[in-house]
Amino acid sequence: MKDLRAGLRARIEGSDITVGVVGLGFVGLPVAASFASGGCRVVGVDIDERRVGAIASGSNPLDEDEPGLSELIRTTTANGTLVATTDAAALRNADAILVAVETPVGDDHLADLSALRAASRSVGGALRRGTLVVVESTVPPGTTGGLVRQEIESASGMVCERDFYLGHCPERLMPGKLLSNVRTLPRVCGGSSAATADLVVALYRHVVRADLDPVDLVTAELVKTAENAYYDLNIAFANEVALICEEVGADVSRVRALVNKSPGRNMLLPGAGVGGACIPKDPWLLAAVPGRVRGPLIAAARRVNDGMPRHVADLTRAGLARHGRRLEGAIVAVLGVAYREDTKDDRNSPTAALARELRSEGATVRLHDPHVPDHQSPLADVTEGADAAVLMVAHSAYRSIEPASLRRTMRTPVLVDGRRVFDPATAEAAGLTYLAVGWTPRWN
Ligand SMILES: NC(=O)c1ccc[n+]([C@@H]2O[C@H](COP(=O)([O-])OP(=O)(O)OC[C@H]3O[C@@H](n4cnc5c(N)ncnc54)[C@H](O)[C@@H]3O)[C@@H](O)[C@H]2O)c1
Repeated sequence: MKDLRAGLRARIEGSDITVGVVGLGFVGLPVAASFASGGCRVVGVDIDERRVGAIASGSNPLDEDEPGLSELIRTTTANGTLVATTDAAALRNADAILVAVETPVGDDHLADLSALRAASRSVGGALRRGTLVVVESTVPPGTTGGLVRQEIESASGMVCERDFYLGHCPERLMPGKLLSNVRTLPRVCGGSSAATADLVVALYRHVVRADLDPVDLVTAELVKTAENAYYDLNIAFANEVALICEEVGADVSRVRALVNKSPGRNMLLPGAGVGGACIPKDPWLLAAVPGRVRGPLIAAARRVNDGMPRHVADLTRAGLARHGRRLEGAIVAVLGVAYREDTKDDRNSPTAALARELRSEGATVRLHDPHVPDHQSPLADVTEGADAAVLMVAHSAYRSIEPASLRRTMRTPVLVDGRRVFDPATAEAAGLTYLAVGWTPRWN
């Protein structure tokens, strides 16, 4: 057994290794390309034939302009260090297998681990003795040493820590920075034993130029879910203070700036909602277990943030009422479809929730985004004849909009600012009825 681990360690440290990557999506693909360019042979496996076909022919199937990624896929597939296949049997030759499949949550807020379960079974079916399996997917605490271990053991007939080794090394990725995030951000390296955590560290040294901290499996799972829950909770706090400011007649920007003069305080920006692949989901992976919520504070924060698009709809309704209009029959121009400024990533975008809300009350919604395909028509065309303009994303391009030019194109002059991009005085001087998250109009 000792020889098995020592042999694996020697191969990992000697660079002569084959790395399998299961799931070639937003996470798995840049990871696979990074290991391939780090001197390892990489076998990528995915059940999506279209995705595999694209990678195998040297092109990037991701719908994002990721710096360096397309080039890396082209060169590593051309020189044979990265191969992609739908056949999990190709994992048979891997020394290490990384699993990066999706782990969504359902409407009940519980993790849907069906993809992870299926992927673990495929890994187990192809496992060779002495292999290190590392879960990169974000998972509820206890999943790697529980479900993943059980599925691999039952599919392989092998035993963890005797025949194979199990790790959890969650990713910290942001759209637009995938490759640089993989290479430069610190990582927690969980292992099914201390010696395995050290193997995980040795493996990731091939690509990561930052701290690699060896821990146990559940600590690694907690770090990832807690860091995203922490962020969500802090945004929810800012949003809650913003709502209180509106109620009592204050400006949250001013309050926030002064709060942050107090030592050790760092109040975040409030806004129109939280989106993306991870932040709206990962807190639930930590807080929700079947039959109960074990993290009431985390769950409350989720609800505050999920409620922000509805609040923006409330502001829009209030602005229209100042002009004797209702949402029913109104044309609302929504500025920003992406979930994050200056990207085209619209996964779980708060704008989708706002549009649903507005349409449910009979408004016509026109969407605009300078970065998102299908929504890139000239801004003036979108605001022409509109009864309200609602800013949902602080794209750089929106920061230079002149309120007076908006006013000229609109039928009813209502501007709702979900990200505090506009100066209230300038907007009002241009003749706009201005409303914003965390700001109280003088007429209120
Ligand atoms: N997207 C992010 O920004 C991000 C950041 C950090 C962590 N994560 C986490 O990483 C994990 C993966 O996220 P993603 O955004 O890459 O998901 P994704 O949906 O982009 O990719 C998942 C891939 O796995 C494939 N897949 C599913 N089941 C499979 C199976 N049984 N065998 C082989 N392939 C299979 C899918 O076809 C898909 O290509 C999730 O747990 C996510 O929470 C994501």
